[in-house]
Amino acid sequence: MRFHRVNVVFLVFLLCLNWTWAQEKNGGYDESKFAEETDERSEINDNRQKNISPDIWTELKELRDMVIKQEMPLGFYHMDVLTVLETRLSCSQTEVEELKRENAGKYLLKHKYELRSLKYLFRQSPRLIDISNTCVWLYMVNVSFSTDLRDRITASENKSTVLESRLSSSETEVEELKRENAERPKVAFSFALTDAGRIGPFNTDITLKFTKVFTNFGQAYNPNTGIFIAPTRGVYYFRFSAMNNNRNAWLGVKLYLNDKKIALNDDIKSVGNIRVTNAYVLQLEKGDVVYLVLRTGHAIFDDYNNHTTFSGFLLFPV
Ligand SMILES: *[C@@H]1O[C@H](CO)[C@@H](O)[C@H](O)[C@H]1NC(C)=O
Ligand SMILES: *[C@@H]1O[C@H](CO)[C@@H](O)[C@H](O)[C@H]1NC(C)=O
Ligand SMILES: *[C@@H]1O[C@H](CO)[C@@H](O)[C@H](O)[C@H]1NC(C)=O
Repeated sequence: MRFHRVNVVFLVFLLCLNWTWAQEKNGGYDESKFAEETDERSEINDNRQKNISPDIWTELKELRDMVIKQEMPLGFYHMDVLTVLETRLSCSQTEVEELKRENAGKYLLKHKYELRSLKYLFRQSPRLIDISNTCVWLYMVNVSFSTDLRDRITASENKSTVLESRLSSSETEVEELKRENAERPKVAFSFALTDAGRIGPFNTDITLKFTKVFTNFGQAYNPNTGIFIAPTRGVYYFRFSAMNNNRNAWLGVKLYLNDKKIALNDDIKSVGNIRVTNAYVLQLEKGDVVYLVLRTGHAIFDDYNNHTTFSGFLLFPV
């Protein structure tokens, strides 16, 4: 709205300006003719009119020159200046009207110049108004673009702040996981019993010492004692497979957790090899011991073929 009003003001201003301008320009050759047709009083009036506000005319001229030369785009500042000038001009215009009424003859003559000026103005004004419109439009586009850009920069800075903090917390988590993983004990063993053939029967329980190693990560199983010692609190998996080839003797092994029997696995058969096998998942405290025992009066067999085995590993710490 304001923008349109300002344009109208601008147009009015240009009209007046051109009128004055044209008068000045044409002053030389028109002056004599003009003087012939004017009386003393109108000259006084004319001077009065010129003296009404000479500073306005100077300001307007300067502004006009700036706009025409396009040295300075029309921004809101200039629009404000124009609004002020408009007010002052309209006061002058009232006075001019009075003067005109007082001197109708001179007014008619001036009207001729005005018409000429108007013709000139209408040739020029569309371009000037275009320039002013374009400048204001560019200004507004720039402002809205700058605002939009600033918002988007803020938003993306926000986003990257969030991402940074998420990244750093992820990095911390990764570090923790790495440390946990590094600290997590590696426990896994697998042994076969012996190359010596049959063991037993004995008249007492004996702890079986599995001596042929497949793997022993963490050295938790000791082949010299036959005892597995839990290096950490956790859930462990154990399995064994035992074989006997003595048709007249029972095969029997017991799994112990500390001094507590977890299981007895035994079997006998009149013909051929016999086997027992089983698996257990146990939750152990650090330092708990697990081992296999050959039961009193029972026998077990192993040779280079690794029939009889004992294996275990840590599933996860708790
Ligand atoms: C556009 O806007 C920016 C930021 O508001 C300002 O620095 C710059 O001078 C403006 N450019 C023009 C041509 O007005
Ligand atoms: C940027 O973050 C601040 C603080 O977290 C918030 O107040 C503001 O609304 C955010 N701005 C944008 C554009 O997301
Ligand atoms: C039995 O296991 C041992 C490793 O403990 C291995 O060296 C040997 O070759 C195995 N025997 C057979 C017949 O695979």
